[in-house]
Amino acid sequence: MASPRLLFVLSLVAFINGQVVKQTESAIEELEKYIQNKKPEINQRYRLHYHVAAPVGWINDPNGFSYYKGEYHLFYQFYPYDSVWGPMHWGHVTSPDLVNWKWLPTALIPGEEYCFSGSAVVADDTMVLIYTAHIDDGKHVNQSQYLAFSEDGVKFVKYEGNPVIPRSPNGSPDFRDPKAWRHGEYWYVIIGSKTDDGRGRVLLYRSSDLFDWEFLTVLGESDGKLGYMWECPDFFELDGKFVLLMSPQGIEPQGDRYKNLHQTGYIIGSFNYATFEFIPEVEFQELDYGHDFYAAQTTENDGRRYVVGWFNMWEAPHLEETDGWSGAMTIVREMELYENRILMKPVKDMASLREEEGYIAGDWMTNQDLSFDKTAEILFENSLDKNVELLLTGIDGGQKVWLRWSPTTKKVSVDRGNNDVRQVEWVPTENKSWRIFLDASTLELFCGEGEVVFSSRVYPDGGWKVTNLSNQTLNVETFKLKRSIPV
Ligand code: FRU
Repeated sequence: MASPRLLFVLSLVAFINGQVVKQTESAIEELEKYIQNKKPEINQRYRLHYHVAAPVGWINDPNGFSYYKGEYHLFYQFYPYDSVWGPMHWGHVTSPDLVNWKWLPTALIPGEEYCFSGSAVVADDTMVLIYTAHIDDGKHVNQSQYLAFSEDGVKFVKYEGNPVIPRSPNGSPDFRDPKAWRHGEYWYVIIGSKTDDGRGRVLLYRSSDLFDWEFLTVLGESDGKLGYMWECPDFFELDGKFVLLMSPQGIEPQGDRYKNLHQTGYIIGSFNYATFEFIPEVEFQELDYGHDFYAAQTTENDGRRYVVGWFNMWEAPHLEETDGWSGAMTIVREMELYENRILMKPVKDMASLREEEGYIAGDWMTNQDLSFDKTAEILFENSLDKNVELLLTGIDGGQKVWLRWSPTTKKVSVDRGNNDVRQVEWVPTENKSWRIFLDASTLELFCGEGEVVFSSRVYPDGGWKVTNLSNQTLNVETFKLKRSIPV
């Protein structure tokens, strides 16, 4: 139910329509024209066919992932004017099925504030965005939490009374990425921040109307080993447990773990809405083991929990940058809890992208090449007693990547050469299959039921060439995948 105050604010917004909306609309229209004019200049070589990516310019974190009026909404951190990070906007796409996406006008453009990451909830029929306003006046940096409203899921109006949470409880300027949800009579939000001595933590707030927020507790905190800042937190129930998902900055590498600059991972535990106590039961684990996965956000619909991540990493080379764009989202995955781990599977409708034409099934002999256009899905089940080694590169050369299973170390690895390896032990459930998704510059590997998933950017020249270098013939099925986002 929308609170009386929300209804009041919405009528106020309608009343001041003339002023606020008009300005915003014309600015957004201008921006849409700019985007449409700029698109033809983009070099198509690495452009993705079925992943949401920057229409032009730069994108990072997924934001406002939600279900509203029969469609999924996905927003993203967006800087339209260059393929590097800049004053943050919120770009916007929608989908009926989490696979086929439609471009929408930019939802938020920066004003006094850069529109940093946040989330979306539905209050009655209104979509409410809660996001971080990053304000840097040259002397001070402050991060506070703002609201914006939409009645149609297309046009957004910022709340005149912003901020709704003006500062962090301990005065830390790092106070960002609100993720809100409804439980019982209240709205809850968690916000990423840090302690006075520089340890990442997540703060929990509660509100009855989305405007007045009461600070409740520190939901979770780094003991020093889990980084200096926790970005993009998320918190949800999954198969009877509670999951605190977040993106800690500054965890030191340990063996195979934490080799990316920053991590995205989760802690499984229990939570009590009466005491607001989250009791961790399983230590922090990475959600995805690839080179390029960060700032993941989830949403729930029809009892299923979906997750999407930014398919890049801070300070990693983004080769598409010289082509007029930078950044993408992973495909959406469904999450499930299995023993002490989250499994991630591509959403079911990904199968609807399979083209009939070009389907191959049968024996894939050692040293045999398979060639694809820009997109492919490759499936096989391997014997765990023998090694698997696939070499992927472009038909015309370009970057190389090796995917391996070693029966000795029991590890799966994604090796981009020059020691740029990510690997992890794989203990399959019963299912020993591999499912590989290739797009023009992305690789996603799902092992078994999703116990082990890797998302890595790879840049082949031309279409893909994949060679079976294993000591075993693989019984393979391959598909070409259709485009699911307009050019
Ligand atoms: C995470 C992040 C967020 C912030 C946003 C700014 O990648 O640093 O904490 O809100 O990006 O674009």
